[in-house]
Amino acid sequence: MKDASQALEKASDIVVEAGKMVRANLGGRFSTGFKSCPADLVTEVDRRSQSFILEGLGKAFPDHRLVAEEDFTEDDLALDDRPVWFIDPLDGTTNFVFGIPICAVTVSLALGGRPVLGAVYDPFREELFTAARGSGSYLNKKRIRVDRTRKKLAESLIATGFPSSDRFKGEMLRANFTAIFSKAVDVRAFGSAALELAYIACGRITGYWEVCLRPWDVAAGIVLVEESGGRISDLCGNDLLLENHVSIAASNGLIHGELISDLGFLPGSKPSNK
Ligand code: IPD
Ligand code: CA
Ligand code: CA
Repeated sequence: MKDASQALEKASDIVVEAGKMVRANLGGRFSTGFKSCPADLVTEVDRRSQSFILEGLGKAFPDHRLVAEEDFTEDDLALDDRPVWFIDPLDGTTNFVFGIPICAVTVSLALGGRPVLGAVYDPFREELFTAARGSGSYLNKKRIRVDRTRKKLAESLIATGFPSSDRFKGEMLRANFTAIFSKAVDVRAFGSAALELAYIACGRITGYWEVCLRPWDVAAGIVLVEESGGRISDLCGNDLLLENHVSIAASNGLIHGELISDLGFLPGSKPSNK
């Protein structure tokens, strides 16, 4: 394998190019369909972006596994020791379909179930977030850090997201929304998990949680948050594994205990992702 900084540079070039194509198509004509249910949207732009990324990463890293959102099997998600790239060719498809310019293209390399580097590109703001283990997190090549000024939920801006599939709505409703809404400064749902994590990394938001995401939604964001001084866990405060479904809490670190406790998932238990 090429070294991490070369791999990250290659990944960055690829997400930026794919992102330009996504940007060029916002508000245009493209075919839209759905996957697991009518709310689970996919467009031809997702697929075009994915083909471009698969070709680029496949050429650069012929020995690595590539796992991409629009073309995967559950077997692809089994953890093994081979390097694997998780690819989300368009994170924020619902926003994209409705003409809202809040979307990202993201890829991340994981080893042994742990993401080691990743890139998230927001083509509408031309913001490229990158991180590699041990090397810090960057926004357009400038070092970024989580917001360490906010130490309590009452001072915090929190983000969350809502699963499109009915299958996961019960799990979503296990969170104590009332506790979070009544304490926090405010709550946002931007509609792109990758960007929500990137926004924690650069200090724009203080905390985030969401249930039943997929590895490609969060892998790059996990590295971004951890390398910028923040904390990642599951919803009970345990270490997070990149399993086939991922329920995640992320924060600046300082509010993490309070966020987990107010979300109200049983301490020490494992959230149910099934
Ligand atoms: C979605 C976004 C959204 C989250 C959904 C994800 P997609 O990814 O990250 O913020 O709430 O659960 O599925 O489908 O737009 O790539
Ligand atoms: Ca996604
Ligand atoms: Ca996607």
